[in-house]
Amino acid sequence: MGSIQYDKQNNIFSLTTKNTVYSFKLVNGKFLVHLNYCGIKETTTDYTARPLAFASYAEEQNENFYFETAHAEYPMFGSGDFGADAIRIRNPKGNNVTYFEYSGYDIIKGRIDVKNLPCAYADDKVETLIITLLDDVYQVKLKLCYSVYFDEDVITRYVIIENCGSESLFVENAKSLSVDISNKELEVITLTGAHYFERTVRREKINIGKFSVASCRGTSSHHFNPFIALCENNADYESGNVYGFNFVYSGSFENVIEKVHDRVRVQVGINGAVEGFCLAVGETYYTPEAVMTYSTNGIGQMSRNFHAFIKKYIIKKENNRHPMVLNTWEAFYFNINEEKLLQLADEAVKVGIDTLVVDDGWFSIRNAENAGLGDWWVNLDKFPSGLKNFSEKIYNKGLNLGIWIEPEMVNPNSELYKAHPDWCLNAFNRPLSLSRNQLVLNMALPEVLDYLKDKFKKVFDGVKFNYIKWDMNRSLSMVGCNFDGKNTDNILYRKFMEGVYDLHEWFNQTYPNVMIEGCSGGGGRYDIAMMRYVSQIWASDNTYPTDRARIQNGSLIAYPACMMSCHVSNPNNALDNNEEMDYRFKVASAGVLGYEMDLISVSDEIKLKIKKQIEYYSKFKHVILDGEFYPVYAKDETYVYYYYEKISGDVVLFYATQKTGDKKTIKISSILNDCTYNLSITNKSYNARQMKEGIEISFDKKSDVLFFEKLN
Ligand code: DGJ
Repeated sequence: MGSIQYDKQNNIFSLTTKNTVYSFKLVNGKFLVHLNYCGIKETTTDYTARPLAFASYAEEQNENFYFETAHAEYPMFGSGDFGADAIRIRNPKGNNVTYFEYSGYDIIKGRIDVKNLPCAYADDKVETLIITLLDDVYQVKLKLCYSVYFDEDVITRYVIIENCGSESLFVENAKSLSVDISNKELEVITLTGAHYFERTVRREKINIGKFSVASCRGTSSHHFNPFIALCENNADYESGNVYGFNFVYSGSFENVIEKVHDRVRVQVGINGAVEGFCLAVGETYYTPEAVMTYSTNGIGQMSRNFHAFIKKYIIKKENNRHPMVLNTWEAFYFNINEEKLLQLADEAVKVGIDTLVVDDGWFSIRNAENAGLGDWWVNLDKFPSGLKNFSEKIYNKGLNLGIWIEPEMVNPNSELYKAHPDWCLNAFNRPLSLSRNQLVLNMALPEVLDYLKDKFKKVFDGVKFNYIKWDMNRSLSMVGCNFDGKNTDNILYRKFMEGVYDLHEWFNQTYPNVMIEGCSGGGGRYDIAMMRYVSQIWASDNTYPTDRARIQNGSLIAYPACMMSCHVSNPNNALDNNEEMDYRFKVASAGVLGYEMDLISVSDEIKLKIKKQIEYYSKFKHVILDGEFYPVYAKDETYVYYYYEKISGDVVLFYATQKTGDKKTIKISSILNDCTYNLSITNKSYNARQMKEGIEISFDKKSDVLFFEKLN
């Protein structure tokens, strides 16, 4: 029996995963009514269809069905649902009454790929349900697609809209997912913040009314991450029912939660205000993919479901590489040159670094933020022997080379801008919209992509490198095409993203030995779609450990630790204090560890310390990268979690706190019975029973990583 069933007698579609069931019903042969999304052992049915005064129904239907009270599988604007719409299309007559009826279904092995956008992979375990709906009047077809990832308890959803009519339409909203839940006391978890303060966890009661987390920046943003979770108010890390949602898109989005007196509706999808679009005759549009999971075992299980799904079906196998890097940015900013970096490389090798990442400042006239972006050729004043020779020198020292780029941007002070001012995004007749002294290239233009591919090919020709840091340092504003005033509709935002993904894919294909570290002024594009192309993402420009511990805690709720790039930095070379150095290391080693400091200037004592840190990290790196995440506690700037790696059986416990001296008893419940562990720092042994019952951890320091190595 497959994971998708259609019960013809009762007209019920059911999608089953290992521990959950999602179902909806075809009513009157026309309408899809959501029944439930719950644990496989739960028997609740959310379907309500009672009449209400003022509830509307289409004339010819019997009175058992009311759009307003039935839980909608995909709510249509203007047809009588009255709630937050998932689909809203302005038709050629000028109104936006949107009405579709069921016309058929199909179940396929595998899945349909989302055209021009990243989406999850499928293997032979994946099945997809495709429901076709039809608007008879304007001949619009809607395909609701559901792909089932059985073992991970994940279902993904995406929608395909086809204009089979004879006039163009304007799609004002097309969400990827909408789920109605019977009214109960629910809370919402979001990841919010700002540049430098990304992904702070917020948990709050869902009140009557509408609530949304959204971005209109053309990026998934530092401010609101596309991840959200709804949990019953007794849910904690280990118990209780939790719905998790996310979006496979790095552009603007809008996730809506709407509570009315008898239901809660949750939606994930594009931000119609930004990305509403014209669908011409014969055209087909694919929404980005949304991802959902359901956990009856609390928030921790929801996180593990998402992590497992991302690791297996999003991250490319060949991108699973995480060298120990030393990055030049916080050490030297733009002030870099060959001589200095070769000296730095000598120090880097001594402490056990694998890859020297040359950050911003290596190209063109780039000595500050205000010039050079777009001109991707090496600055020969800084690198007199050229990039190729420089890379060989680095390689001969036993290091690999990483290089920073910011392909989507151009400074007005650049050769590129002088030659092609029309290649920038700027709305017709509006002033140039600068941010960090830079403009955004119109990545929707094939000539822009061709230019970038050509320039990167030339500048990297013969260069020995294995790492790209791909940055993106501004939000999109005044978006339009200045040069002919035509391409003014909002599809430009979407086409921009398609261009960005195209270039990422080109990099992956053209440089199969080169990994990408994603970055957008830190973690401004920390999303599932980016994880399809990159090996890791720079989690934040903020490397202060107290803030970082908070940012990392939020990141881990939705995304696996192998994506979280964390550096030990040394602001203004002021770090000569061993305790602070330890604090920074311990926080950073809860993710993909790296360093970002001037190793030439630091004392020998610090260098020795770094060497030891790298050696220690390499012992438990497999647990961080491949282990499962078990959150234990997060409150008042104290964070406790552990990773458990199944193959070795090893455990790494992490804490960060501002209340040193406190103690907590922590149960390591995921491990197998009858084994023994050695805590490497103290060399003390623990048996599995003790660990399951709980071990007392004293917060001696502001942070620690405790490696429990399984002995037998
Ligand atoms: C922002 C990034 O987040 C930093 O790490 C650094 O690469 C700068 N950009 C360079 O301009």
